[in-house]
Amino acid sequence: MVKVAVLGYGTIGSGVVEVLNTSRDIVTRNAGTEVEVKYVLDLRDFPGDPVEKILVHDYARIVNDPEVDIIVEVMGGTHPAYEFVKDALLKGKNVCTSNKALVAEFGPELVKIAKEKSVNFLFEASVGGGIPIIRPILRSLNVDTFYEITGILNGTTNYILTKMYDEGGSFEEALKEAQALGYAEADPSADVDGFDAARKIAILSGLMYGKNLDFEQLSIEGIRHISKIDMDYAKFLGKKIKLLGITYNINGEIYTEVAPHMIGPENKLYNVDDVKNGIELKGNLLGDTMFYGAGAGKLPTASAVVSDIIDEAKHLHTNIPILWSDEPVILAERGRHKSKFFIRVDRNYDEIKNKFDLEQLVTLPDYQDEYAVVTAEMTFAEFYEKIGNKEHVRSIVQVK
Ligand code: HSE
Repeated sequence: MVKVAVLGYGTIGSGVVEVLNTSRDIVTRNAGTEVEVKYVLDLRDFPGDPVEKILVHDYARIVNDPEVDIIVEVMGGTHPAYEFVKDALLKGKNVCTSNKALVAEFGPELVKIAKEKSVNFLFEASVGGGIPIIRPILRSLNVDTFYEITGILNGTTNYILTKMYDEGGSFEEALKEAQALGYAEADPSADVDGFDAARKIAILSGLMYGKNLDFEQLSIEGIRHISKIDMDYAKFLGKKIKLLGITYNINGEIYTEVAPHMIGPENKLYNVDDVKNGIELKGNLLGDTMFYGAGAGKLPTASAVVSDIIDEAKHLHTNIPILWSDEPVILAERGRHKSKFFIRVDRNYDEIKNKFDLEQLVTLPDYQDEYAVVTAEMTFAEFYEKIGNKEHVRSIVQVK
């Protein structure tokens, strides 16, 4: 029998407890032993919930109980999650988490402590919710050199952009619906300003290269500025707008960013809609591989967390190696990276046509006082130099 403590009884925590109960037989079979939840930690009380009997408010009671083998951290946020997880690992407990903020900021350090203590720190649910992506990267995709990782890694923004595309509404209207449905994080900024996606692409890319990619170094652009008008042009061009986390590795030069992009139907992520996530990897041997599924939500995320619990139950005192050092990934300057650009400008601003090599020029009858262009591919350095003063520019979106 392996005993587990769950830190946090929110959406994910209650999902983990539910899955461990409802899937008891399959968990026992796969873990080779029974898995029992001994404690749930939360600041709140849950009168009438069966969890009441095992609810504690004092973390020390959990971490000092020698019967607890695995601690499941699903509180979110970095503090006190970091202090709790570090303390648990140092005391020889296995830990698994769904917490991307914790993993993005402290992953290499926690992996190192787990190794030193011959226990495990696993975090499958921290990227892509229920989609298996961390384990495949660490265990299966370790021969290829990946020259591109592109992901729709945030369900909330994908829901908002899908809603705007399908129903023609504004960003604000779609955000309200996402909040009403409980998709957006407590602070919607983490989702809509791109930080959540940035943490996730940083985790994936760091693991790919076995080094630490500090997400705060990335160029991060969210979706607040995407308007109904941008979406109407995108539709006319046969494209959708998606918030992408992208890492390019061009002959060893690594560039990572999060930004909205217009993509066409030839792109594998074009049909990843609503709250779904999709991750496309391009490797030198494997070619293109696509991961698709539920990137958020109670049961999908709990499914990934419980798979970590099973792995840890099978390896309680054996560290499953994860190569993730704290050596920093050195990122290429943004100026060297290439893109095409969609630019909307005032109708009387002719200069844009002379400044850029254009692939397309679009005028839409509904928007008489403006027009838009799609440029040929160029480096960001060239783009910034040419665009100059943005006085007559209404919107810019990268085109992939
Ligand atoms: N807020 C996140 C999302 C939850 O919308 O994708 C899953 O990490």
